[in-house]
Amino acid sequence: MSVYTASTTAPVNIATLKYWGKRDKTLNLPTNSSISVTLAQDDLRTLTSVATSKSFSEDQLWLNGKLESLESERTQHCLQDLRNLRAKLESGDSSLPPMSTWKLHIVSENNFPTAAGLASSAAGFAALVVAIAKLYQLPESASEISKIARKGSGSACRSVFGGYVAWEMGSEADGSDSKAVEVAPQSHWPEMKAAILVVSAAKKDTPSTSGMQHTVTTSDLFQQRIHNVVPQRFEEMKKSIQDRDFDLFAELTMRDSNSFHATCLDSYPPIFYMNDTSRQIVKLCHQINEFFNKTIVAYTFDAGPNAVLYYLQENETKLMAFIHQVFQRNSGWESKFSKQDLAAFDSYFAN
Ligand code: DP6
Repeated sequence: MSVYTASTTAPVNIATLKYWGKRDKTLNLPTNSSISVTLAQDDLRTLTSVATSKSFSEDQLWLNGKLESLESERTQHCLQDLRNLRAKLESGDSSLPPMSTWKLHIVSENNFPTAAGLASSAAGFAALVVAIAKLYQLPESASEISKIARKGSGSACRSVFGGYVAWEMGSEADGSDSKAVEVAPQSHWPEMKAAILVVSAAKKDTPSTSGMQHTVTTSDLFQQRIHNVVPQRFEEMKKSIQDRDFDLFAELTMRDSNSFHATCLDSYPPIFYMNDTSRQIVKLCHQINEFFNKTIVAYTFDAGPNAVLYYLQENETKLMAFIHQVFQRNSGWESKFSKQDLAAFDSYFAN
């Protein structure tokens, strides 16, 4: 009996303009548009392979080598949407094998350690949906497919693309215009780099899904954010990417991280994602930019204490010198600095 297979990878994306709040929980429709920068495919990604055959007796998922349940409503939503599109295709072409009625076997693996503290649901759902769309040979565009991934996890819609991605919130009640679109490919601004500073690998204490709804229902500041801050920032950030304007991109990214965490603090009772080390990193980034009299680094924090730093390749050594100086000299970076650099950093921190 024939077995049909397909594979794909989906990258981890980190929001530089945060999605925080749903206007529809079932369809995962957001209260604001968001933007992310996708980490390079070979760095952090999920690899998913899918197979289908008339002989399979149940849908099964192996996640990082372990058999996992496919029962969640979100996953079922995605599978149903994909099967419906396939059924539509089959109804117009009787030569196609009737895969829409067959069971699926799914094998998914992350190439990044859980200890990196990164949410894997975005890359995971994106890879799952794209792999099945490939298997079913669906003709829909990546933006159309992103709407299905969105139902798995909101941020997953952005991982359907690489590079710089916007998730347009849309206004339709059925979510038909709430989709990811490419702002620019990675090749548009290849000098952009990201570093993750792992502050804690512990599981977050307030998951994003419940945390954001808590903010929606209890924070006053949240209304200000979604109505008066994000719409303009969304346009400005897209432009900063199109213009490769790092100064502006960095400022908007840092401001948006701060604004999102402020709404978490303004929730009642408050939600704390950042800790003392996270705050030390924020301060350090501002000190670094001040020291060089130029914006060379931007920080952003998701629903946890770990920092993602964005910077341009040309400033990597300078930046790492500072980080290393503050967080111990044990990373092997000292060999990359000139004596002059090290002396300058030492005197800066001595003051
Ligand atoms: C802080 O996409 O994980 O990372 O839609 O409920 O699955 P669900 O939430 P999720 O939330 C991500 C929140 C964030 C910001 C972002 O990625 O935009």
